Amino acid sequence: MRDPAKSETRHGYVMSKYQNGSVIAFREISQSIEIDRNLMSSAIFFLLVGLAIAQGTLPATPPKGTALTDIPILGLGTWQISTNTAEAVSDAIVQGYRHIDAAYIYGNQGGVGQGITDGLRKTGLKREDLWITGKLWSTRHGQEEYGLKETLNQLGLEYLDLFLIHWPVGNSTTRTTYDYIQTWKGMEKLVKPTGGGTRYIGLANFSPSQVDDIMKIATIKPKVHQFELHPYLQQSSFILTNHAHNISITAYSPLGNTNPVYSGSQGGSRQPKILSHTTITSIAKERGCTPAQVVLAWNMARGVSVIPKAAKAEHRKENIETVTKCKLEGGDVEKIGKLDAKLRLSILCGTGDLRAECFRGLDASP
Ligand SMILES: NC(=O)c1ccc[n+]([C@@H]2O[C@H](COP(=O)([O-])OP(=O)(O)OC[C@H]3O[C@@H](n4cnc5c(N)ncnc54)[C@H](OP(=O)(O)O)[C@@H]3O)[C@@H](O)[C@H]2O)c1
Repeated sequence: MRDPAKSETRHGYVMSKYQNGSVIAFREISQSIEIDRNLMSSAIFFLLVGLAIAQGTLPATPPKGTALTDIPILGLGTWQISTNTAEAVSDAIVQGYRHIDAAYIYGNQGGVGQGITDGLRKTGLKREDLWITGKLWSTRHGQEEYGLKETLNQLGLEYLDLFLIHWPVGNSTTRTTYDYIQTWKGMEKLVKPTGGGTRYIGLANFSPSQVDDIMKIATIKPKVHQFELHPYLQQSSFILTNHAHNISITAYSPLGNTNPVYSGSQGGSRQPKILSHTTITSIAKERGCTPAQVVLAWNMARGVSVIPKAAKAEHRKENIETVTKCKLEGGDVEKIGKLDAKLRLSILCGTGDLRAECFRGLDASP
């Protein structure tokens, strides 16, 4: 890591802006410690990274009986796990995954729920040892309670740990609109300490001004914001904005254009596959990691939890082993910082004028 053009402290974070325009933020350890990157030893670097990881996240495999008051740093994405879903999810729990990311729109919550039941039976874990995230689909805005019940029924669960508004835009047969304020008020009613509700609520795919709008009216604050983050879309300033509101961040599509869905019109082929990029492969070789582990470890070093989807058992194993087997050095983070291509792959938000509003103020807004 070399001379930042500028370092400043904002909202309890030390933010370093580099000459190439990239921004890296670390949780500040003490007002009295000045972070000078020329002097920063690798020991301090790893202390900072450790603190960043600790910010709003738990280990990937918290010990049995841990109170899950935060989201585990690594979980399993389930979009497009369409065959053998139950087997993939139960196997993941056996492999040590404690966080499963589901959504109504993925159309596979029955299999995900069966996998959770099987995984608990195989491991002897209890429901409260897992963190299950669900998402309110756009056609369910205005019917938040119904949306949650539908999800719980499909998953066969009594409660969720986290329920997100999947997109800020609501769709019905008669209207498509930004109705997220009203929707948030409905979501707040779902937070219940006992069965039938959700422990926490959060956001997905919101823009900076939409996050601000929610913060102004929320009586229950968002716990987590889930959005697209990978080396080709780094959004480092937006990470700071969310952390300043005390909102944890989960990276979706953390393996970037590895997801084949993004190869066509969504522009994934405009860049080399991230796992074949020479910067990633050379760091992987140097550190004894795989390319996927380097990419996941980079986001985790920013205090961001990751939810790689892996239908293949060997991919799931490789991904969860990131936590124990892949340690990045300071210079690695800076090198990956240079790969930002402002390449937004998930562009499904709204149409027409609504689309123009999506991601306003962020890199690669439509
Ligand atoms: N909130 C939202 O709007 C939103 C949007 C998109 C995604 N998500 C969530 O985020 C999750 C992850 O994102 P994603 O599914 O788009 O993409 P991803 O996790 O970045 O990439 C998935 C692809 O990478 C492959 N893969 C996994 N581990 C690998 C490894 N170690 N080496 C090589 N290839 C590997 C998978 O292959 P195999 O499956 O064949 O193993 C799959 O083709 C989703 O499943 C979903 O839960 C949320």
